[in-house]
Amino acid sequence: MNVTIRPRADFCGEFCIPGDKSITHRAVMFNAAAEGEAHITGALLGEDCLSTAACMRALGAEVRAEGGCVTVRGRETFRDAECDCGNSGTTMRLLMGLLAGRGVHARLTGDASLSARPMERVAAPLRLLGADIATDGGHAPVEVRPAALRGARVQTAVASAQVKSALILAALGAEGESTVCEPLPSRDHTERMLAAMGADIRAEGCTVTVKKSRLRCTDVEVPADISSAAYFLALGALRGEVLCKNVGVNPTRAGILRVFDAMNVRYVLENARTVCGEPVADIRVYKSPLRAVRFGRELMPSLIDEVPVVAVLCAFAEGESVITGAEELRVKESDRIATTAAMIAALGGDCTPTEDGFVIRGKKALAGGNVLSCKDHRIAMSAAVGLAASARGGQIADAGCVNISFPGFYGLLG
Ligand code: S3P
Repeated sequence: MNVTIRPRADFCGEFCIPGDKSITHRAVMFNAAAEGEAHITGALLGEDCLSTAACMRALGAEVRAEGGCVTVRGRETFRDAECDCGNSGTTMRLLMGLLAGRGVHARLTGDASLSARPMERVAAPLRLLGADIATDGGHAPVEVRPAALRGARVQTAVASAQVKSALILAALGAEGESTVCEPLPSRDHTERMLAAMGADIRAEGCTVTVKKSRLRCTDVEVPADISSAAYFLALGALRGEVLCKNVGVNPTRAGILRVFDAMNVRYVLENARTVCGEPVADIRVYKSPLRAVRFGRELMPSLIDEVPVVAVLCAFAEGESVITGAEELRVKESDRIATTAAMIAALGGDCTPTEDGFVIRGKKALAGGNVLSCKDHRIAMSAAVGLAASARGGQIADAGCVNISFPGFYGLLG
C-alpha cells in the first residue's frame, strides 16, 4: 500500500493516541501467566500486541478482546506450543524468559525481519539461570525446552528492557534469588507491573533483584504510548499546537521531552497523575523555532524508538545536530541508522549516517518526495511527519506497516 501525505501549513488539534505497546504486551503476557482473571482497558490492538495475544492463546491461556477491553484468564502451567511472534521482538524475547522455567517445549518463530534480529543476547544470559534454549545461529526459530532454573547474578551487555524483562520473568520461576544489572536503566514497565501482581521484586538504579514468586491477575489501565504520541507532538512543534491526552510519561520512556528541552520545543505537561503505577500526563506542544541538538548513549534507552522522528525534527532545526551512542538502532525492525538517513535524504534533508548515529544539518524547508518505509512502522510514521511539514509532500511506499504499533495512524493524521 502507498500513502500520499499532503503538506500542512498548520497542524493543530487534540489527539487520542492508542495504548502503550510495551505495557499492553506485558499486561497480556503476565496476566496470562498468573492466577485468576484480569481486565485490560486502553490496550493497543496493533499487530505486535495481537501476536502476543495469539501466542498466549496457543500456550493455553484465554485472551478475549471485546468492546475496548481485553479479558485475560491466566494459567500457571502452559501446554507445549508453536508460537508465531510475527514482527514482534518484545513477544519473542519476553516469551523466551517467561517459558524457560515453566516445563514446556515451545518453538518461537517470526517474520523475515524478526528472524534477522539477534536472539543470543537473551538466550545466553538465560542459560546462566539454567535455561535450555537453542537459537538457529543466534536467530529465530528459538526452541525453549523444560529446565529447572536456579537464581543467578547476571550483568547484561546492552541496556535493553527486552533482555532485562526476559531475565526477570525467568527469575520468577528460579530457586533462590536472582539479580539483573544493566549498563544503563532501560524502561521499567515489567518491574512496576510485576510488583503490582504480587512478585517479590526490588529495583534500584540499574539493578533488579527478584525471588521466586507466583503472580495474581491484576487489572491494567494502559496509558497512550509516548512513542506514538511523538509523531503528533513533533508535528505540533513544527506546524501548530497539539494536545495528546493521557500519555505515559514514565521517566525511563520520556527522553524525548529532554530532547524537546534541548531543541527549544515549547511544551507543557498537564494533569500529571499516576495510573496503575505508571506516571501519566496530557502533553501540549506549541510551534517552536527549533535549534540543533547533541545527545548520546546516556539518553538512548529512554527514547530509542523515537530517534527516527527526532532525526526528522533535527532536519528542520537550525544548525548541525549530532546523535551518538545509537548503535542499537541497527538491530531494530530495520537497520534504523541506514533507513532513517535514507528517509531524511528522500525528504530533501541532509543526514549523514555514522557507525552509531547521525550528523544532521538542518534546513529551513524540505522539499518532500517519495519515501520507502522499508516495512518499518517507525520509519513510515517519521516520514509522514517530515512530508506533512515539507513544501510539496509526497508518497510513502509500503505504508501499511504502521499497523504494527499504530492502527488508524493515517486517518488520525488526516
Ligand atoms: C521494548 C524495548 C525496546 C524497544 C521496543 C520495546 C519493550 O527494545 O525498542 O520497541 O517493550 O521492552 P530493546 O529492549 O531491544 O531496547
